[in-house]
Amino acid sequence: MKFFIDTANLDQIREAQDLGVLDGVTTNPSLMAKEGITGAENIINHYKAICEIVEDNVSAEVISTTYDEIIKEGEGLAALNPKIVVKVPMIKDGVKAIKYLSGKGIRTNCTLIFSPGQALLAAKAGASYVSPFLGRLDDISNDGLVLIEDIRTIFDNYGYETEILAASIRSPLHIVNCAKLGADVITSPLASILGLLKHPLTDSGLAQFLADHQKAAKQ
Ligand code: E4P
Repeated sequence: MKFFIDTANLDQIREAQDLGVLDGVTTNPSLMAKEGITGAENIINHYKAICEIVEDNVSAEVISTTYDEIIKEGEGLAALNPKIVVKVPMIKDGVKAIKYLSGKGIRTNCTLIFSPGQALLAAKAGASYVSPFLGRLDDISNDGLVLIEDIRTIFDNYGYETEILAASIRSPLHIVNCAKLGADVITSPLASILGLLKHPLTDSGLAQFLADHQKAAKQ
């Protein structure tokens, strides 16, 4: 399973990269705004800076919502760096644009997926990734994991190569459950990735090992 970090914060991207487990980054307009990145030039420079940190898979989201504009913006983003994956919203013009961009060899990530039908449509259009938002479904008392499971079944039934990129992750347990269900990728805040490290028996076991070592060294 690939691990992407879901942030536009360069320090957090570097920290995840240093851990040695990072396969990519996803951003969105809200995450860029959270880091105070505004204005076309700053946004472009920020994507370039992210591309310098990671090896591949930097999702950069279009803000256009019409076919012609999505294509123009998407081609511009893709031209910044071969690591860029153009993130396109699950709307009618977005699906058409995904078909066009994938035909041109530009990788796409269809975002804001909340139903299996939306994922099927994006896969048919040739999306490289679909991003089902499981946390946001959980937030409204739907089971986001069921969506991951349904998409996995559909893609396996027909051999779609589109990768399931589980997004809107809220906890380490979300990551583990996505892995159990066969999601190809998770994109997560740094805290949930680091949360996978933690177990109280690891901490107490290590403390005991070190204490025993010290005791033996003194004998
Ligand atoms: C997906 O790529 C989105 O950036 C993200 O996962 C949304 O997460 P949120 O629901 O925590 O905002």
